[in-house]
Amino acid sequence: MWDYTDKVKEHFINPRNVGEIEDADGVGEVGSIACGDALKLTIKVKDGRIVDARFKTFGCGSAIASASALTEMIKGMTIEEAKKITNRDIVDYLGGLPRQKMHCSVMGAEALQAAIADYLGEKAETASDEGEVVCVCFGVTDKEIEKVVRQNRLKEVEDVTNYTKAGGACGSCIPQIEAILNRIWSEETPPPSKPKRPRTFLEKVKLVERVLEEEIRPVLAGDGGDIELVDIEGDVVKVKLLRNCASCPVSTFTLNDFVGEKLREFVDENIRVVEVDS
Ligand code: FES
Repeated sequence: MWDYTDKVKEHFINPRNVGEIEDADGVGEVGSIACGDALKLTIKVKDGRIVDARFKTFGCGSAIASASALTEMIKGMTIEEAKKITNRDIVDYLGGLPRQKMHCSVMGAEALQAAIADYLGEKAETASDEGEVVCVCFGVTDKEIEKVVRQNRLKEVEDVTNYTKAGGACGSCIPQIEAILNRIWSEETPPPSKPKRPRTFLEKVKLVERVLEEEIRPVLAGDGGDIELVDIEGDVVKVKLLRNCASCPVSTFTLNDFVGEKLREFVDENIRVVEVDS
């Protein structure tokens, strides 16, 4: 069963700003009922600042919570500030979303960008407007996949499905999704290679921090969790799990099979990760 944060539950049970602004300055519509999710966002702008925002959605509890959170976030923002909102900001505002529901936050961010583009009289630059359709079942383009992969540092096809739905039905697009992932990550600088001499303690600490920051925290944040490095003794890395991870019943799995594997891959194959209280 999926684990929802209290904030997600609260926004689902008591959604803010439901409805539609009749004389809206900007309208953003994304998704389609045929694909299972649709969102219409309307905004009112005064002196370059969003003074009202309302939404209507056809979707699950996470879609409702994401849209509700989005309206709360953007009210009072300037258009320039709102332009910078990404799906990651919506997820952070809600304290996390189940990985399988990340596409709801993506839909919110796309509706916002579409509403802003409409207000500015521009063509919406949503990724789905450009590129070639990769997933016919859900109408997802290569540009859309590339955008969420880069923004959220996704590495697996399953993650792409969670964020865009692509690949979640017939699966015939999976080879193309894999090709996009391979292309994007092969362009990146390779992970830090092992130096010929043994690392100093300080180098090891810095590298562990870097792997935590780049490879581990973004994934844990997706579930509303976090991790803190407490100490390193030899090959033993002591960490503290925070937020949702602290109370997660599968935290042992998270430590050994995810955190441990990443640190062994990028830092040292002998690393062992243990959880400590402080
Ligand atoms: S084409 Fe992508 S799931 Fe069917």
